[in-house]
Amino acid sequence: MSEAGKKIILSGIRPTGRLHYGNYFGAVREFLRLQEQDARCYYFVADYHALTTITERREIYADTLHMLRTYVACGLDPVRSIIYRQSDLPCTAELALLLGMITNIGHLERGTTYKDKMAKIEADPRTEGNPLSYGLLGYPVLMAADILIVQADIVPVGDDQRQHVEMACDIAGKFNARFGETLKIPAAVDRNALRLPGLDGSMKMGKSDNNTLDLLDDEATVLKKVKSVPTTTDPEPLGTDSNDPDVVIPKMPAGVGVLYRLLSLLAPEAVYLEYLEAYRSGGKFYGNLKKTVAEHVSQFNAPIIERFNDPAHGDAFIEDFLRSNAQKVTPVALDTVESCREAIGIGRSLYRA
Ligand code: TYM
Repeated sequence: MSEAGKKIILSGIRPTGRLHYGNYFGAVREFLRLQEQDARCYYFVADYHALTTITERREIYADTLHMLRTYVACGLDPVRSIIYRQSDLPCTAELALLLGMITNIGHLERGTTYKDKMAKIEADPRTEGNPLSYGLLGYPVLMAADILIVQADIVPVGDDQRQHVEMACDIAGKFNARFGETLKIPAAVDRNALRLPGLDGSMKMGKSDNNTLDLLDDEATVLKKVKSVPTTTDPEPLGTDSNDPDVVIPKMPAGVGVLYRLLSLLAPEAVYLEYLEAYRSGGKFYGNLKKTVAEHVSQFNAPIIERFNDPAHGDAFIEDFLRSNAQKVTPVALDTVESCREAIGIGRSLYRA
């Protein structure tokens, strides 16, 4: 397929902590699948977005390099995919500014991520971040700019980001309605997008909730974390004969559900079915289940840890491709920003070529 006819894929991850299983199975696994297709893939580290929760100086650049090294260790290839750092594309901030002019505050205030953050802070004022920051409220506008600036067709993300992608579609639609067809409206996020629960049995595995299983966790850490998953409740009837993880797992107590989800993602189907049978017949099996899950997680992590530690994938390698990939994405992004400037009527920039 010609370059022009290729589907455009874009997604990003914030460099706030280590890559966890929610990130991997919600997003990165899809990045890898799409990288194998005849598509143009843009994957970036959202370092501007990381600033929405900082309250003091943090080594965001070091965290960014670490995250990129993990991307590469997972199999993302900076030759086949354009992997870059959000802040190396500062014209994204210009597009966010333009999009902000047509975005209603009420729309942003109704965002679930924003509302959840507000609720958390009301419950515990020591929660990290400042919910009243302009940046946090405007998070979806910056995210819309990330997506629209490369004219993405598909945005592979986990279920928790579905609403943000919908907001990007709404913003693009509004821009086009007001100023003429300028921005491509991406596809909505698939209804089956995954939301991996946390190891503490909460709704979502998340970096700021201290409930993650990480791709770089060593064997001992994995075992300790998996053993800590709450499984105090005895199995209850599932009320279904189905073995489909999407049907069965939501009917389990949350902690148990995350163990079965990990098993369904990592172990051979026969092992998952064997433990499902054990669940249905009751008895004491949680100890063995945790051991089996931990083994599969460690097996999955081992090659990733090995590639992460490969000296060939050190900081110099990362900085090298960051530089050349920023040069590849910049003209594409500038083209969109210039079209938007023209559409709005402020005219093209006088200093850019
Ligand atoms: P972040 O860093 O919070 O999450 C990165 C990706 O991981 C997915 N994810 C999950 N999926 C399933 N279960 C979970 N428990 C889980 N936790 C995280 C997220 O859905 C996401 O796909 N706002 C984005 C970063 C971003 C972005 C963008 C993404 C900035 N601009 C433009 C796409 C397009 C985020 O939340 O990152």
